[in-house]
Amino acid sequence: MNQALDSAGKGIMIQDVNRKVVFFNHACEEITRWSKEKIVGKDCGDIFQCHTSTGMCLTEKFCPGVDIFQGKFSKTSRELMITRGDGSESWIEANASAIRDAEGRVTHIVTIMEDIRERKKFADEILKSKTLSTLGTFAAELAHEIKNPLNAMNIQMLVLEREIQDTHKLSSKSKKEFLEIVSIVQKEVIRLSGFVEECLQFSRTGELNKSLVNMGEMLNEIASLLLPQAQLNGIYVEVDVMHALPKVKVDKDKMKQAILNILINGIEAMPDGGELRMGVQYSRDGILISCQDTGPGIPDEIQDKIFNLFYTTKNGGTGIGLSFAQNIVQAHGGTLQLEQTSKGSKFIIVIPVDENTY
Ligand SMILES: Nc1ncnc2c1ncn2[C@@H]1O[C@H](COP(=O)(O)OP(=O)(O)OP(=O)(O)O)[C@@H](O)[C@H]1O
Ligand SMILES: [Mg+2]
Repeated sequence: MNQALDSAGKGIMIQDVNRKVVFFNHACEEITRWSKEKIVGKDCGDIFQCHTSTGMCLTEKFCPGVDIFQGKFSKTSRELMITRGDGSESWIEANASAIRDAEGRVTHIVTIMEDIRERKKFADEILKSKTLSTLGTFAAELAHEIKNPLNAMNIQMLVLEREIQDTHKLSSKSKKEFLEIVSIVQKEVIRLSGFVEECLQFSRTGELNKSLVNMGEMLNEIASLLLPQAQLNGIYVEVDVMHALPKVKVDKDKMKQAILNILINGIEAMPDGGELRMGVQYSRDGILISCQDTGPGIPDEIQDKIFNLFYTTKNGGTGIGLSFAQNIVQAHGGTLQLEQTSKGSKFIIVIPVDENTY
């Protein structure tokens, strides 16, 4: 029995009522980088020196599942950041449940431990990509909203300036003072207009920070980022990269976000599993990146809306993903299009490659 538990794929830790660890399998050793010898017999709070779900270390010694002894729950599930035996930090998911004796008293707690670093990385990347997309979009919206009133203020100031100059009711001293006030306001309006213009420029092209990138390598990076989440959803991921692909000058971070947005949609479209295929090849038109899923596809009647900002059919969706992706690709002089397929959805990005980029 012990041997079977020891070779289980998931970490299994058992502690008694005194919080003493009585069993710590091999997977636990790998996840926590603490050896069994060091841990068994110790207070389980000693293992997770820093343990938190918010990023801040809790001070008291914490054991997953202690709430169970206190009779509050019979099962608990928490994501915890731990400091491992070698001092490095990692994330685990700890699912604890009670082991009871014949009278129903809790005698031990068994905790199933899983390394969730990859899952966390994926979640962080999505958050980053969504935040950046949202920021860019709101900068554009805000700039638009401010631009028109600023123009109106500028015109009104010009009118006021002329009125002050032409009036005979003011002494030349007062005229000078009023004109000075107008001039200050005008300068500020011009400064703000310049700032708004910069904001608009930034969110349109996002000031691309280009470097020579191997898109095949980038797709593989994206795939390994998506893999844990895809596997959880029963999605098979395939990357098909053409040989001898020329490098292309792109803003790596932005392009990665654009492709991620498309692929995340693919994952979201297949909650019951499926296939996610991404590929990159070189043709006369440039670098061609395809992202295909086997989800329900996109109905004809909404196909011309999906790239619109804020268009979403999802509960809790923002409708920014594809609009952002299209903006980024277009800022590179490329195109992003939905292609007809018999099953699922297929998006194609084409990035032109000019002669001096490879
Ligand atoms: N692979 C896909 N399969 C099915 N429908 C899709 C797919 N990709 C996009 N869509 C449709 O296009 C809409 C717009 O997508 P978009 O990524 O812009 O926004 P969202 O996913 O709804 O929200 P957000 O990306 O901002 O979280 C989606 O709501 C969905 O209806
Ligand atoms: Mg989306």
